[in-house]
Amino acid sequence: ENCNEQTLRPLIIGHRGAAGEAPENTLASFELAVRQGADAVELDVHLTADGELVVCHDHTVNRTTDGQGRIDQMTVEQIKRLDAGRWYDERFRGERIPLLSEVFAALPANVMINVEVKCGYSDKLSGRLAELLAGFGRLETTVVSSFSHKVLYRLKQREPAIRVGLLYVADLVRHSVLAETAGMDVYSLHPQYQAIGPEDVAEAQRHGLRVYPFTINEPEHLRQAVQAGCSGIITDFPARLKAMLG
Ligand code: G3P
Ligand code: MG
Repeated sequence: ENCNEQTLRPLIIGHRGAAGEAPENTLASFELAVRQGADAVELDVHLTADGELVVCHDHTVNRTTDGQGRIDQMTVEQIKRLDAGRWYDERFRGERIPLLSEVFAALPANVMINVEVKCGYSDKLSGRLAELLAGFGRLETTVVSSFSHKVLYRLKQREPAIRVGLLYVADLVRHSVLAETAGMDVYSLHPQYQAIGPEDVAEAQRHGLRVYPFTINEPEHLRQAVQAGCSGIITDFPARLKAMLG
C-alpha cells in the first residue's frame, strides 16, 4: 500500500508530470516529477484510431505538439512523428507523446500513477487499459480517474481489481458525492480544490476514501490542503510541495 492517508503527509502527485517546469504529459515531465520527489504522477489518456492508449490532455495534438489532428482519428505512427517538447521550450525538442505502456515501463514501480481517462467509454478502451494494468503489474499502484463516472463504473464492472477515483469540479453537496460511491467500490475522490474544506476531507476519509484535490500550485493553497489532511495533492510543482513538507 503506497498510500499514506493514515499519516499527516499527503502524497505529492505531479500533475501531467511536473507541468509547471516541463512540457506536460511527456516522459521528461514525469521523470522530472520523480526526481523532484513526487510520490505519484497524474496523466491523461486518449485512445488512438488504431486502439492504443496515448498520453495527452486535449482531444487534439494541436496545442502540445507541432502537428494537427484529433487523436481518435490518428494512428500511433502518425502521433509518434510529432514533437511534443519544442512548443514548451527548445530544450525539450525531441520529446514525443508517450504511449501509456511507455510510462508504465519508464517509471519506478513504487511511483503511483493516476491515469485520467479523457475519452468516453468504449470496450476497446477498457480492454486495453485492463490489459496494460495487469501486464505491467500496475493494478495496485494505479488509480484510474475520470469526470465520467460512468466510464469508471463500466471499467470496474469489467475488472473489479482496478482502483477508481471520482473527479468532480462542482461545489457538490458532499453527501451526494459520497452517496454516489455507494454502488461502486471507489478508491479516491479527486475534487477541484475550491470545492472542499477540512470537514469534507475528514468525512470522505471516515468513509475510507482518499482525497486528492487538483490542481494546487500557490504556496498558500498548498499549505491549506496539507493542513486539511488531504491524502494527496495534485500539483504542477512537485518540488514546491516537497520543499514545504520537508
Ligand atoms: O486529474 C486532475 C486534473 O488533471 C483534472 O483536470 O483538465 O487538468 O485534466 P485536467
Ligand atoms: Mg488531468
